[in-house]
Amino acid sequence: MEAVQGAGSNKNDVEIKGAFKQFGANVVLNGIDLEVKQGELLTLLGPSGCGKSTTLNLIAGFLDPDRGEVHIKGNNVTKVPPYKRDLGMVFQTYSLFPHMTVYENLSFGLKLRKVGKADQKRR
Ligand SMILES: Nc1ncnc2c1ncn2[C@@H]1O[C@H](COP(=O)(O)OP(=O)(O)OP(=O)(O)O)[C@@H](O)[C@H]1O
Ligand SMILES: [Mg+2]
Repeated sequence: MEAVQGAGSNKNDVEIKGAFKQFGANVVLNGIDLEVKQGELLTLLGPSGCGKSTTLNLIAGFLDPDRGEVHIKGNNVTKVPPYKRDLGMVFQTYSLFPHMTVYENLSFGLKLRKVGKADQKRR
């Protein structure tokens, strides 16, 4: 992927600055810049293998960029582990707990975050 520009309010929820990522000889992200404004919904569209999931994994922190930075709400989180980024990611291939009901799967994250039962149900 090359470069993408966002639009909307002035505050960025997510910002990628000059991210470079390669796997072996395969350069997947070639210095991409991406801004996602507060409240903006952004879709990454492109052929299979173009780097959409790699980009999401950089934002979530499951992959580190070889060069470049990831910022969330103005903070540089490039070196921050996924569990400290306060983000949710739904994987392309769903990872559901087979022993739990749909409700239990959906409320699991909220439960971990100690959200009360009534609030879990509402949300
Ligand atoms: N962990 C990895 N090790 C080696 N190569 C990888 C790894 N992850 C992704 N790749 C390669 O990086 C490239 C981009 O993969 P990515 O999964 O980001 O593509 P995508 O745009 O999400 O594709 P799709 O539309 O199929 O989901 C592909 O060539 C893929 O084979
Ligand atoms: Mg993908």
